[in-house]
Amino acid sequence: MKAEPQVIRTKNFADDAAGFILDQAHRALRERNEFRIALSGGNTPVPVYTRLAAIAHDLPWELTRITFGDERCVPPDDRESNFRMARETLLAPAAVPEKSIMRMRGEIDPQIAAQEYQDDLDLLAAQCGEPTYQHDLILLGLGDDGHTASLFPGTVALEETIRCVVANFVPKLNAWRLTFTFPLINRARHICFLVGARKNAGLIQRVLKGDPQFPASRVNPSTGNVTWMIG
Ligand code: 6PG
Repeated sequence: MKAEPQVIRTKNFADDAAGFILDQAHRALRERNEFRIALSGGNTPVPVYTRLAAIAHDLPWELTRITFGDERCVPPDDRESNFRMARETLLAPAAVPEKSIMRMRGEIDPQIAAQEYQDDLDLLAAQCGEPTYQHDLILLGLGDDGHTASLFPGTVALEETIRCVVANFVPKLNAWRLTFTFPLINRARHICFLVGARKNAGLIQRVLKGDPQFPASRVNPSTGNVTWMIG
């Protein structure tokens, strides 16, 4: 049964999104003394991460585990790198310790980088006695074609049912990406789509209605909740 998503429309997008993330962090820390969050990439999160760094200065970042929902296959200092964006807006300003950050190595062979990340998540889960890694919060964006993370329409990764992280070739970009798959995404306790004001309202409505042509429609956590934070 698809959990009904919470839809929040706000004129204070960065403030409300950052506040939402901080609330999720406090809840996870209260319940499990750890906060596992996956960051989304692209442009929309920039003001949100910037605001989060400002309001979360007293968060025990050493108790967080920061992963990335997807990454471009570029070096970490490349302008296209999601890690670089996160480092500049959140990780450096909030002084997040290196040990809390799990970077996808976009600079190496995509298949190896995906396997390495999968192995890292599997190890963390095993160390906690969990069958597989579960995020407290996964942030996701929405592309104009309805993609989310790097799960683009018509790409192979959409059909992955076992692995949590894969390398995905995206013909429209003529580029490889590293991405979470639906099995990992749909295992999260909470998923939050961060969608800026300029995003097509019709697309959002069709995804919310579950239009299967859009990969974002297949975000359907088995037990977790979904929130749409729309600017
Ligand atoms: C990426 C993102 C991607 C992004 C959407 C929306 O690596 O680009 O993970 O899924 O969230 O494309 O991008 P914008 O926020 O730039 O509109």
